[in-house]
Formats: sequence, structure tokens, C-alpha cells
Amino acid sequence: SKKKLYIACIGAGYVGGPTMSVIAKHCPEIDVEVVDVNKDRINAWNDSNLDNLPVYEPGLKEVIQKARGRNLFFTTDVKGAIERADIIFISVNTPTKVYGEGKGMAADLKYVELCTRQIAKYSNGDKIVVEKSTLPVRTAESIRRILEAEDSKHSFTVLSNPEFLAEGTAIDDLENADRVLIGSDETPFGLSALEKISSIYEHWLPKERVLKTNVWSSELSKLTANAMLAQRVSSINAISALCEQTGADVAEISHAIGMDSRIGSKFLNASVGFGGSCFQKDILNLTYLCRYFNLPEVAEYWEQVVKMNDYQKNRFANNIIKTLFNTVSGKKISFLGWAFKKDTNDTRESAAIYVADKLLQDRAEIHVYDPKVNSEQVIQDLLYLQKYRFVNNHDFESLPEEEVRDLVKVYNDPYSALKDAHAIAILTEWDEFKSYNWQEIYDNMHKPAFVFDGRNILTRTMMSKIGFKYQGIGSAEL
Ligand code: NAI
Repeated sequence: SKKKLYIACIGAGYVGGPTMSVIAKHCPEIDVEVVDVNKDRINAWNDSNLDNLPVYEPGLKEVIQKARGRNLFFTTDVKGAIERADIIFISVNTPTKVYGEGKGMAADLKYVELCTRQIAKYSNGDKIVVEKSTLPVRTAESIRRILEAEDSKHSFTVLSNPEFLAEGTAIDDLENADRVLIGSDETPFGLSALEKISSIYEHWLPKERVLKTNVWSSELSKLTANAMLAQRVSSINAISALCEQTGADVAEISHAIGMDSRIGSKFLNASVGFGGSCFQKDILNLTYLCRYFNLPEVAEYWEQVVKMNDYQKNRFANNIIKTLFNTVSGKKISFLGWAFKKDTNDTRESAAIYVADKLLQDRAEIHVYDPKVNSEQVIQDLLYLQKYRFVNNHDFESLPEEEVRDLVKVYNDPYSALKDAHAIAILTEWDEFKSYNWQEIYDNMHKPAFVFDGRNILTRTMMSKIGFKYQGIGSAEL
């Protein structure tokens, strides 16, 4: 009989948690241990009440229920997991650097390096090390060099296997992946490791969907995918600004161009702007890499995607101020949604944070309702942005924490958040917002009752009929 295979995954976040859960579900003969230095996070993954999992994703609970305790384990025992593992996935965070060289642009690789040194320290045999985190092209080389320098007794094979899941649809994306990408070098060790990783995914995906490339292509494909996706959002958002000046309607344009099979219909919804932990950070990282390799034109091309996104968020906030007679000071602006998209509790880089930050400069009162985000998260997001605000916003003031806590209120119930509002801003496209009793909401607001729909989830016809002054993105009554 074959020796049992052990997997360790370092980092139990939005990627490590769901990815390893789905692998464990489909590979009952493999033991999967997900480790993290964050004890609270591990405890939450082990909570018997599945509503307390640290990541909210549709379908995740069911997968956890099936595999946890059987062949899926969440633990803080980094050393033990590394010792037991044949294959080690690195799924730690790679945020934008907030200090020093490359500040505000480069990926901060300190967590990856730390984790690499831990692997070297605790390894008791040969290991396959898999980059799951999104990394700058050629990071595998640095990982290999560190491993070899720290531990010359064992052999390490470093592969790249970037993750393409999208938050909000993570489980479905993993179960029915368009493709899985694995990059390895063409040495016998590399090729044999490649087969091992590939066979994991082939438990539930057809063989043709597992793509095999060299390591550098694999690393750079992930950055490219995110850059292209974000570019589509910024492109349609750029057009939305022109629509608002001309009477063209961006939804009609998206529909019309999306029917062209060369363009395709997905990812063409105009909005207040993209958020999430990945798009901005990965493009900034790509931009930094291009400058590093002395390709300034390429760097500027991609950087513009982030600039357009900042412009869109800023434009949305400025429009609220302008429409409310050029003053929002002391006015109640109610936010529907704080998460960066629907069906996730993740708020990293959410457009809501930037819009709120801008309105707070004018001392608006922000009243927030989001079905999955708690009050402390909202406050911490705002304080974090005030601390590390680099992109374009040098002239912004940072308010003292007490003032932020005073001006920002978070509710467990939407109708309380919306009562007596001067304006409503929709920042996340949660489905439930569509089915609210908008007549009742209107009756309980100050008039004129303004709605700024940053996600185009409501219709002007319905909202105007009730009496709202409604503004979507990319369409205006001229
Ligand atoms: P996350 O911040 O949710 O999770 C990372 C976890 O790693 C944290 O819980 C942290 O405590 C842990 N960690 C850091 N250093 C550690 C160490 N030395 N030992 C043990 N644990 C350690 O991050 P997330 O969102 O899961 O992202 C991880 C990587 O995957 C990033 O590189 C990201 O770019 C990439 N990615 C993220 C996607 C997403 O939708 N969030 C999608 C595809 C890729």
C-alpha cells in the first residue's frame, strides 16, 4: 500500500481555509493540516458553532462539517505540521509594504520569508514547497535559496500554484475551477512534485483543467489575471463618467459590448470601484516590478488602472457632497454595505472605507449596516486607512479615534441605520438590499431623499416613483 500523504498549509486565511477544506473534502486519504500563528483565527476555525468560522463564504460550512476532524485539522502547531508534511503550501498574506523601500507599491514579503525560514528550521526530510500566496515573479528562486542556505541536509522542491478563487464564490470556484495552474522547473524532482500536486486536484477536476507551466509563467499569470480583471472594471468605470455627462447609459453599453464574443459579458458592471485585498495590491506590485526591471512605460500603463479606481471612489464621494448642497457636515449619511463585495465578510480595501473617509473629512455622520460586518471592523478599517493613506490622498486629515467613533455608527438592523437619513449610499451589492421596503425607508428620511447607488442594484424608475432623488453610476437624467 502507498504511504499516506500529508499536507500542511501555512496561513489559515481567506485562501488557506477554503482551499484546504475543499482539498480535504475530496481527498479523504490525505491528511490536511492548516496552521496559523493567529490563535484566535484557529480557534474560530475549530468552533463547534459553524456560524463563528472566521471566513464567511456560501457553502463553506458544509465542507468544513464534512472534513473537519476527519482529515482536516486547524492548529497553531507550525512545527509539528511541517515535520509531518510531505507537501507544504504557503498561503500567508502578502500585503503592500507600508514602510521603507517600495512603500505603497511593493509586496511585503516578510511573512513569506518568515514562513520559509520556519520550513527550513523544522524540516526533518525532503519537502515539496508550494507557493499558494500571490507573489512577485521570481520569488520561488528566493524561497529556494533561503531553504538551501538554512538547511543543506534535505532537498526542497519549490512549485508555484497560484489561487484563482474569488471571495463570495470561493467554494464554487474551487469545486468547478476553470483551471488550476501549476508551475515547476523541468528537473526530475520538479516534474515528480508537479505530478503529485496535479493528482490532488484530479480527485475532482478533469485532467485537462490542470495547466502545467514553468515557475515564472505561473507566478506572473496570477498577477496578470488580476491586472486584466481590474483593468476591465476601471475601463467600464471610465466610460461611466462619460455616460453621466452625455445621457448614454453605461448598463446599456455593457450589454451591447458584452455581446461581442471577443469582449465577453462578465466583469463589465460599472460601480463605485473595485475593492478587496488583491486587485490594488497586485497591480501596485506589478507596477513596482516593471519599474524594477526598468520598464517605466509598462509600469505607468498598469498604474493607471489603480488611479482610475481612486478617481471613481473619490468621484462618488464628491458627488454626494455636491448633491447635498455642498455640505454634509452634521448630516446623516447611511451606508448600505461595508464588505468589498456581496457574500463575503471581508472588508479589505472596500470602496466603502474610502468613501466614508472622504465624507468624514467634511464631518458627515456615517451610519452603516452590513449583514456580515461588525461595528469594530468598520472603525478599525477607517483608523487603518487614516494611518496608511498613500494613494493620492496626501492632503487628507486624520481624525482622532474618539471623533471617528463619535461620527460613525454601525447597526444590526438596516431600518434603524436608514431612519432620519439625509442620504443613502449603497456600497455593496448584497441581494437583500433589493427587497427592502423602500417606501417605508422613504417615509422615514429627510427630504429631498437622496439615494446614491454605487452598485446599480436598484432602478431609477422604481425609486423615482416612490419619490427618491436617485443616482446610479453611469446614467444621469440630463
Ligand atoms: P489572510 O490575511 O486572510 O490570511 C493569511 C494568514 O496567514 C493570516 O491568518 C496570518 O496570521 C497567517 N500567517 C502569516 N504569517 C504566518 C506564519 N509565518 N506562520 C503561520 N501563519 C502565518 O490572507 P488571504 O486573503 O488568505 O491571502 C493569502 C494569499 O493569497 C495572499 O498572497 C493573497 O494575495 C493570495 N490570494 C488571495 C485571494 C483572496 O481572495 N483573498 C485570492 C487569491 C490569492
